[in-house]
Amino acid sequence: MEKLVILGVQWGDEGKGKIVDLLSEHFDVAVRYQGGSNAGHTVVINEEKFILHLLPTGILHEHVIGVIAQGMVVDLEVLEQEIKGLEEKGIYIKDRLVISDRVHLVMPYHKLLDSLFEKKKGIGTTLRGIGPSYMFKYGRKGIRISDLYDEKRFYNLLEENLNFVKSICEKVFCERFELDLNSIYERQLSIFEKLKSNVKDAFRFFTERNKSILFEGAQGTLLDIDMGTYPFVTSSNSSALGLSNGTGLSPKYFSDAYFLGVAKAYVTRVGEGPFPTELKGKEGERLRELGGEYGSTTGRPRRCGWLDLVALKYATDVNGLSGLVLTKLDVLDGFEEVKVCVAYELDGEVIDYFPASYSQLSRVKPVYETLKGWNKSTKGAKDINELPKEALDYIRFIENYIGVSVVMLSTGPKRKEYIWLKEILKTKSSYS
Ligand code: IMP
Repeated sequence: MEKLVILGVQWGDEGKGKIVDLLSEHFDVAVRYQGGSNAGHTVVINEEKFILHLLPTGILHEHVIGVIAQGMVVDLEVLEQEIKGLEEKGIYIKDRLVISDRVHLVMPYHKLLDSLFEKKKGIGTTLRGIGPSYMFKYGRKGIRISDLYDEKRFYNLLEENLNFVKSICEKVFCERFELDLNSIYERQLSIFEKLKSNVKDAFRFFTERNKSILFEGAQGTLLDIDMGTYPFVTSSNSSALGLSNGTGLSPKYFSDAYFLGVAKAYVTRVGEGPFPTELKGKEGERLRELGGEYGSTTGRPRRCGWLDLVALKYATDVNGLSGLVLTKLDVLDGFEEVKVCVAYELDGEVIDYFPASYSQLSRVKPVYETLKGWNKSTKGAKDINELPKEALDYIRFIENYIGVSVVMLSTGPKRKEYIWLKEILKTKSSYS
């Protein structure tokens, strides 16, 4: 396989990190192309836990070149820390990291704005400055990493931006503004100096070489700025829609790619926004505790609920999925019954689509189908024959509804805890 795209198909935190880590072994290059340090991709290797925020997860494999492509917004301080953290664990990546010269930077004033906006009308962001950095990008006030080659230009852009943010801070929010132009200037340049040799034209890197590439989506389809639950979304295209603008590659380039979605066997969400199948009582708490559902970037408890097939079918169609990985099925072990949402009721009418309108989506009530649970543990299972019949029925039900095969089950956090149901890399099938 030459091109694999891995995408979250819920509200993020589907367990993409582990799947990317597992599959990137088979690729030459791993690419992150949207979002920034709002992501937290967790991988457990030999009992050691790694959480990557900016670097592509695939870079943990020694032979893989990692690319931070143009659609990302990069906080240089976080990137410096992340590289240092890996070096402390004996993983050296400096000679196999490409940072696109087109990436926009996340500056301290973007994080300040993120927290000011959250105070006023919060949507529960990660406070990593992501939204404001994209606001500056699309408002043509952003600073790209290549602007740092020209120190005078960088200084002027920074000064202009700081004056702009200072007036918003003082005049709109009546808060004291304490950021200092010279210290930001010096700090950014000093990190840039260390990373300069990694800054390249990533578009040319893609087009000049014939390499197998894995594209790592961050967040999830329902957080996509256009297709997600707007305005409770992130500020990038976190569905397959972000691939072209995030890399510079034509949509035609992706026509022969495999689009692999990753979904949890239930649903979680961090931050505010509509969540039709949310369980607010004891069942929700049970899922949160069993699933360890606390944010890897912010530590916030995640909201939990039953699997929403209306939303999953929508995400399948938005991304044009070729196959699906189901994660954390073991969290449902021991439930007497498991529910899946198969339609919504909107103002007395049953609908089977995911509404774009915020008010409609906030009003929908889930219509559930109840399936039999299973008593046997599926945790750590490595063979399909270890799965109870009811768990297989659950998987079949999902496949029938969304019209796409579940090709892999992740049965625990460790690298080796998975089962191929349909081996996509070698197209071998152990399940039909
Ligand atoms: P932002 O991306 O920090 O602006 O946050 C916008 C929304 O996206 C909030 O609801 C966040 O909780 C959510 N979000 C952002 N990144 C992630 C992620 O990696 N996993 C899950 N939710 C995320």
